[in-house]
Amino acid sequence: MMPPILVTGGTGTLGRHVVSRLRDAGCDVRVLTRSGRPAEDGVEFVTGDLASGAGVDAAVAGVERIVHCASSYQGDPDAARNLVRAASRAGTPHLVYISIVGVDRIPMSSPVDRGMFGYYESGAGRTWRRSRP
Ligand SMILES: NC(=O)c1ccc[n+]([C@@H]2O[C@H](COP(=O)([O-])OP(=O)(O)OC[C@H]3O[C@@H](n4cnc5c(N)ncnc54)[C@H](OP(=O)(O)O)[C@@H]3O)[C@@H](O)[C@H]2O)c1
Repeated sequence: MMPPILVTGGTGTLGRHVVSRLRDAGCDVRVLTRSGRPAEDGVEFVTGDLASGAGVDAAVAGVERIVHCASSYQGDPDAARNLVRAASRAGTPHLVYISIVGVDRIPMSSPVDRGMFGYYESGAGRTWRRSRP
């Protein structure tokens, strides 16, 4: 039996579709969420918080693949870092990191840009690339 695929943000707009497609492909799925819920049809839910790191070790235990769809408008480099560190402790799972198509080509030059789309800079690609070890 294949280990489950961990989907962070599996309750979110994108992650729900990822979970559904993985189930259609016959994969067992584990979802990391801040609010626990009972398992349903091949999907188990593990309670954890990527921002604090609580519960993340349990979420990554035994998985070989992680699809990281969790996100917040405050940006998520700390969350991504906590996930990568927990994954490293668990072994060497393959990690799919979701970004936004073309995010690094979108100009961020005015306060209005930053007010509306500031998370483009901090969460979806740029800071991650700068802070990657
Ligand atoms: N939606 C789009 O059209 C779109 C387009 C391009 C790219 N993307 C990218 O796709 C990713 C996901 O976007 P989305 O629109 O699906 O986001 P979303 O609907 O706002 O969902 C956010 C998800 O992140 C989880 N989450 C937030 N903070 C968390 C934390 N501290 N610990 C654990 N889980 C946390 C939430 O889970 P719980 O609330 O259950 O804890 C929720 O499932 C982002 O990187 C985004 O930039 C999305």
